[in-house]
Amino acid sequence: MSFPATRMRRTRASHFARELARETRLSPANLIQPVFVLEDDKGREPVASMPGVERLGAEGLFELAGRCLELGIPALALFPVVPTERKDAEAAEAWNPEGLVPRTVAALKKRFPELGVITDVALDPYTSHGLDGIVDEDGYVLNDRTVDALVRQASCHAAAGADVVAPSDMMDGRIGAIREALEADGHVNTLILSYAAKYASSYYGPFRDAVGSAANLGKAGKEGFQMDPANSDEALREVELDLDEGADWVMIKPALPYLDIIRRVHETFGVPTFAYHVSGEYAMLKAAAANGWLDNDKVLLETLLSIRRAGACGILTYAALEAAELLRA
Ligand code: PBG
Repeated sequence: MSFPATRMRRTRASHFARELARETRLSPANLIQPVFVLEDDKGREPVASMPGVERLGAEGLFELAGRCLELGIPALALFPVVPTERKDAEAAEAWNPEGLVPRTVAALKKRFPELGVITDVALDPYTSHGLDGIVDEDGYVLNDRTVDALVRQASCHAAAGADVVAPSDMMDGRIGAIREALEADGHVNTLILSYAAKYASSYYGPFRDAVGSAANLGKAGKEGFQMDPANSDEALREVELDLDEGADWVMIKPALPYLDIIRRVHETFGVPTFAYHVSGEYAMLKAAAANGWLDNDKVLLETLLSIRRAGACGILTYAALEAAELLRA
């Protein structure tokens, strides 16, 4: 008979006791700010489906990077907005050493050497069809040819100074191939953050608008390479393979609908586990807040805390700066 000897509410009764007994903490150090990067240095364009998010040219990006460092956000993740005329079926622009991503990485690292710079390794911003790989005449994404292209892209990013390359494409064998190339090039300390368990999710819609791949993609789906939302054991196999191939860190994506996967991966492997609070998750919150249906600030912090509680050490979120400001206040 534990009551009244045990009263769970005793700990909840005072602020100091709640502070001491808190199991999980959210800090700006857990956040990564994704940025959509424009060719035009002075560019600044709002993303309609992601209120508060802008595509930025170099000027805006530098400003944002400075804010991140001031607030204790350790890293940025870059996503290029590639002009249509640079897209083709082979995605050749993806490993152009003079391309938008390598130029941006080099400029950022020069100006902010202590800032972690993460690049997206995937072909979808560069393909005329919007898929994450090179396709055959039936539109099937060819695995091994795509991996060859991803290796070139990752090498190009590492050569430009990227601290972390993050393959988000879900091709088989790409982590091993990229790791081998990085070693051969002498980039022994370049981290690989593998999007190991990336689901074929409908929460990516606003992102595809933001980078301009939605129109290219049309009605084509990504179920042929991204994971089935029904599966959980399969995520563990994906993570195990990527770790065996040389991934340093693994990512689960999206975050909130897949908290169970974050928890299983973290418990099973005990490796740095990241989660991507994706565009659709961000858009849902902003829409509800704009209508006065949810308290934006409270729900944002609760959401990010829940992703931490599930087992993520780092969270990519479009609201990173916003959350860091709230945490400081
Ligand atoms: C594609 C990529 C996607 C996202 C990040 N990289 C979309 C997709 O797979 O179609 C989505 C991120 C988000 O929704 O915020 N390589």
